[in-house]
Amino acid sequence: MYVGRATLENFLSYSRAEVEFTPGVNVIYGANAAGKTNLADAVYLGSLGRSSRLTKDKEMIKWGSENGFRVTLRVHKMFSSHTVEIASDGSGKKRISIDSLPVSRIGELMGAINTVFFSPGEIRLVRGAPEDRRRFLDVALSQESKTYFYTLKRYSSLLAQRNRMLKDMRGRESLDSLLNVVDPDLARSAAYLTRARMKYTDELAPAARAIHLKLTGGKEELELRYESMAAASEEEFSAKLRASRPADKRLEYTTVGAHRDDLKISAGGVDLRKYGSQGQQRTAVLSMKLAEIEYFRSKTGETPVLILDDVLSELDADRRRGLFEALGGVQTILTCTDPVDIPGAAYYMVKDGQVERK
Ligand SMILES: Nc1ncnc2c1ncn2[C@@H]1O[C@H](COP(=O)(O)OP(=O)(O)OP(=O)(O)O)[C@@H](O)[C@H]1O
Ligand SMILES: [Mg+2]
Repeated sequence: MYVGRATLENFLSYSRAEVEFTPGVNVIYGANAAGKTNLADAVYLGSLGRSSRLTKDKEMIKWGSENGFRVTLRVHKMFSSHTVEIASDGSGKKRISIDSLPVSRIGELMGAINTVFFSPGEIRLVRGAPEDRRRFLDVALSQESKTYFYTLKRYSSLLAQRNRMLKDMRGRESLDSLLNVVDPDLARSAAYLTRARMKYTDELAPAARAIHLKLTGGKEELELRYESMAAASEEEFSAKLRASRPADKRLEYTTVGAHRDDLKISAGGVDLRKYGSQGQQRTAVLSMKLAEIEYFRSKTGETPVLILDDVLSELDADRRRGLFEALGGVQTILTCTDPVDIPGAAYYMVKDGQVERK
């Protein structure tokens, strides 16, 4: 798939901008603070209904604007084209529509546009907390499956509910009977999430390994493994929840579940989180993101849109070349301060709140 026309109104630093993207590589260049990442964010918004950086709708409205923002994206797929529109006036819910039909739940937006996002900050995928790695899995799986997205939401709210009970009802007799009500549901969603993440990791790993070998000139073997302290079946999960109940009561939070898992990333048997060099960590993230593209392609037959925000300056010549080779047939929105020379790319200069095709 690829995003063609993008129209931004009162969105971040743009009053109004209209850009016609090409299906290939789109290079967005300009000075610092010109609005390059903001433009890339408009595309990201169309895939997940939120920005890659800010979380509040209100913050996405152009400062000083009387009206809310609106982003309209035309997306072209193999056999169809759609118009995705996202708007908000900062109060209440976002207004989302696909082909002018209102989308009432954000989950229904998933899959309309798929994106894979890569920026220097994404290095936290290797270096950061387990939560960052679980988010990587959740973002990909939510885009692929609405059921996953809703199960994740359900799990988060059940978990919050259970933790609140453990705190508020401490020492009370009724606590056990309340937990008995929540636990089966929690076990069911947790097992579903765990299974999906394991399966996804197992499917992603060979592709990530092959790409990583290529990017490192055959030197590094990347391994991905989903590490779960819980279990992939509902029954096992229920048993673990039961077993950990005394501890949960004492600690006042839920100690087992899909919210405690991690994704182990290593190269040649070395844990990259602890011992990887900066460049190694960065390359591992890149390999995982490129593998994500392969995964989407094999699952849906559609290629997601790749957003590369400000990452070129951080890669050496060989890794850059490896990256460009992997971009064949993938729409890429690439931001940089100086226009890099990529054969066949389209160039857009961002300046004074305007985007100009060069
Ligand atoms: N709601 C908003 N209204 C107006 N301007 C905003 C809003 N939110 C952020 N900005 C501004 O948009 C400007 C451009 O941001 P952006 O991140 O797109 O720059 P950039 O071109 O990617 O720069 P860099 O090369 O440093 O990454 C920033 O200076 C920021 O202050
Ligand atoms: Mg930027």
